[in-house]
Amino acid sequence: MNDFNSLPADFTWGVATAAYQIEGAVAEDGRSPSIWDTFSHLPGKIDNNDNGDVACDHYHRWREDIGLMKQLGVDAYRFSVAWPRVVPGGDGPVNDKGLAFYDELVDGLLEAGITPFPTLYHWDLPQVLQDRGGWPSRDTAEHFATYAAVVAERLGDRVKDWTTLNEPLCSSWIGHLEGTMAPGLTDITAAVRTSYHLHLGHGLATQAIRAAVPGARVGVVNNITTCEPATEREEDVAAAVRADGHTNRWWLDPIHGRGYPQDMVDLYGVDLPIRAGDLDTIAAPLDWLGVNYYFRNVVADDPKGPLPHAKQVYLPGARHTAMDWEVNADGLENILLRLTEDYGPEKIYVTENGSAYPDVVRPDNCVDDPERTQYLDEHLAACSRAARRGVPLAGYFAWSLLDNFEWAYGYDKRFGLVHVDYPTQRRTIKGSGHRYADIVRSARGRGRRAA
Ligand code: IFM
Repeated sequence: MNDFNSLPADFTWGVATAAYQIEGAVAEDGRSPSIWDTFSHLPGKIDNNDNGDVACDHYHRWREDIGLMKQLGVDAYRFSVAWPRVVPGGDGPVNDKGLAFYDELVDGLLEAGITPFPTLYHWDLPQVLQDRGGWPSRDTAEHFATYAAVVAERLGDRVKDWTTLNEPLCSSWIGHLEGTMAPGLTDITAAVRTSYHLHLGHGLATQAIRAAVPGARVGVVNNITTCEPATEREEDVAAAVRADGHTNRWWLDPIHGRGYPQDMVDLYGVDLPIRAGDLDTIAAPLDWLGVNYYFRNVVADDPKGPLPHAKQVYLPGARHTAMDWEVNADGLENILLRLTEDYGPEKIYVTENGSAYPDVVRPDNCVDDPERTQYLDEHLAACSRAARRGVPLAGYFAWSLLDNFEWAYGYDKRFGLVHVDYPTQRRTIKGSGHRYADIVRSARGRGRRAA
């Protein structure tokens, strides 16, 4: 058993999911289509032409899924609220049935002794808003804040831990520049404007949540990673600086009141639609920072390649997951230290961390996943080392509670601590899930947290 002793006494042990990846029930109780419904139904966009129509059917099976969380013994559940369930028109009338789903889920979690950590935006923009301009349009940021207020007013008597956005990098760079996520655009102007309006939406939503929920603790979640040069060549070192700007500084500087990094503004060559007061709104004080970490980035100069002209390099001998992502737990320790030194957050949560491997349920109903278990151990050990070195680390959320719809990769990439057999919707806790339960239990056993 690894030693995770440096994690603080009140460390939060959690699991995470996202609405479109698990809920299914896309046309039930007044939900409108999101950009992911549209995108996933376009032929060839998703491996196997999979889509989220049914996913893990969590919309109907959430009680069973809370039961699984209880078996894992976690303290907290990070889930996302689907905007098209709550405000199907994007703005305007609230769909009470949609809101009631999250209301009941929150009550169920609290009854089970599990703290709800909702995220307001995990990529499922109502399609009607996309049709009116989507995130490249400023109105979307304003509608997001209105929707955030609706959810906060309804759940805020019981929910104190709020996340505005999950991984705005993916919505912006992958959704609007690379085009392999919804809405599938390949336009740098749209991508930069999206990033800006997501930041603005985050700031406005933060104000709305604080106004609605006394004692709210608000954070935002970014997927950030170390960007290391493949060699000491000047060109590779410069490529790593650009990759860092694209992946990390563009997302962290504005929310910490530093504006947008000038080297990246120059590289993108797109005017930011900044209005008076916006940068202060974007830099609303945060209670915590969320970090989603999966792999390290080793890059080389790629002058003819896509922005930021830095290509990922695969190092010989490195271990990779089924996503082809390098397993590198030191990268997590390094990024936590860097965040602490450069931005001085009050608290950090690792809001996602996990690995995909092809799993099978054995005839004796066990799922043996030693690689995922090792990944979990190594990354928790990295968290513990970071805490020992002064990182204000408050919690860890394993990605993911369940195998689920892995966006453009469909259902083949399994990240769950719990296996889902999609045809039967049968859930089976994997070896890594049992391992996580042991870790949580032993942390409590050391008196680290009241049971
Ligand atoms: O499944 C995703 C999640 O939705 C956002 N963060 C990364 C995960 C694994 O790719």
